[in-house]
Amino acid sequence: TSFSSEKHGKDPPGPRPLPVIGNLLQLDLSKIYHTLMELSKKYGSVFTVYLGPKKVVVLAGYKTVKEALVQFDEEFGERDSLQILQDFNKGHGVLWSNGDSWREMRRFALTNLRDFGMGKKACEDKIIEECQHLIEVFKKFKGEPFDTMQSTNYAVSNIICSMVYGSRFEYSDPEFTSMVDRTNQSILLSGSPSFQLYNMFPRLFKWLTIRKEFLETVAANRKQNSALFSLLKQTLNPEMCRGFVDAFLVRKQNLEASGIKNSHFHNDNLLNMVANLFNAGTETTSTTLRWGLLFMAKYPKIQDQVQEELRRVIGDRQVQVADRKSLPFTDAVIHETQRLASIVPTALPHKTSKNVMFQGYFIKKGTTVFPLLTSVLHDPSEWEKPHSFHPAHFLDKDGKFVKRDAFLPFSAGRRICLGESLARMELFIFFTTLLQHFRFTPAPGVTEDQLDLTPRGGITLSPSPHKLRAVCRM
Ligand code: HEM
Repeated sequence: TSFSSEKHGKDPPGPRPLPVIGNLLQLDLSKIYHTLMELSKKYGSVFTVYLGPKKVVVLAGYKTVKEALVQFDEEFGERDSLQILQDFNKGHGVLWSNGDSWREMRRFALTNLRDFGMGKKACEDKIIEECQHLIEVFKKFKGEPFDTMQSTNYAVSNIICSMVYGSRFEYSDPEFTSMVDRTNQSILLSGSPSFQLYNMFPRLFKWLTIRKEFLETVAANRKQNSALFSLLKQTLNPEMCRGFVDAFLVRKQNLEASGIKNSHFHNDNLLNMVANLFNAGTETTSTTLRWGLLFMAKYPKIQDQVQEELRRVIGDRQVQVADRKSLPFTDAVIHETQRLASIVPTALPHKTSKNVMFQGYFIKKGTTVFPLLTSVLHDPSEWEKPHSFHPAHFLDKDGKFVKRDAFLPFSAGRRICLGESLARMELFIFFTTLLQHFRFTPAPGVTEDQLDLTPRGGITLSPSPHKLRAVCRM
């Protein structure tokens, strides 16, 4: 209450909330980040908004977000789950969990994803192989305009399949396509305005059909995953783990064999972890890749420069991760794509783990916190041209690549994206290889100016539906 905070320090400022509905009337639920960006102009870098009855402290700007997530990493490092997710995940997995279970699952996932690929040659080879399949799909359109969404989703999902199950699927396999399509559907649904209303007022909006649809979609994917796990279990060989699921099952068996009860390695954690890896690791990466292709179609001169660099440095051979340092311009374009697209605008909700005094404000334990990543990636005091596509943000005057502190598309601190190195590898290989093979242009009759960069709102920001031509260059 305001009494207890008065004892400790000020509440962060913010627009005056109405009873029950809070600041709902001021919020654009289809793009909350946009309203929050506007409010930060008025209320500064730490402010309060009420999403219905729920109090949220918003952190804005590079300095503030970095300070909170890094210097105060423990205080700001808990996850705040959404109501809809509590309906089924019950604190399992890595994305929406906290405490010991989260810590153990996160450590296990990091070690194993590293063993099965992240930062490894084996994974690079898988990405390269997958990219060849994607190229075949793009070629089938013979330069006619098409929507890149489905095929990039399939390709990127297959990378997670390889790491999780140990093998990829054919794009024509209905078991695979239905799973990918459902994953996307559930991500889209969970970003919709009516969903946010359910999260704010669960009792009032429990009857929403969209909630039912979401839960059914998630349940169908779980059922399918359980069946896949059973198959893997039947052929499990502790000497040779094929992927993440095998490693988890082996660890579980070993713990059980040594009589350890109540370990965190149980089926619910396995199911949720695998779901988390698909949810967090597929749509994000494919959306970023699609922004990259859209920017290339929109800015053909920049596409020229990327293709010139690729021709000069690589020629016709396959690009490797090791080539990154000799492709500074292309690398800058990929970074600039992530910066400008800012696809996870409010990160995922955090929560304070204890009472905290931050920049003179008192924030109570258990308060929801949004690190506004867009305000970091578009911070006018950090970026020369915050709202333009300007690869020079990442280049020095000699054209060498430069890292930028305010480049935080994967967030920072304890909850920093677990798949960052995998995502970076995928973006690099997919983007360069596609640009070696294709010239991306708008559909006939559409000028570059007419290509719309307005994002479609949701938990992640994807390009609005559009079609591109991929004209073969090789
Ligand atoms: C969390 C971004 C790809 C797995 C996050 C967060 C962001 C993010 C902003 C939230 C951080 C926070 O709460 O402060 C991205 C972007 C990606 C990407 C932009 C692609 C371009 C991936 C991939 C994987 C992955 C490929 C899977 C291997 C996760 C997981 C978390 C997470 C498991 C939750 C971590 C935790 O709560 O401890 N990601 N991500 N992400 N990401 Fe990613």
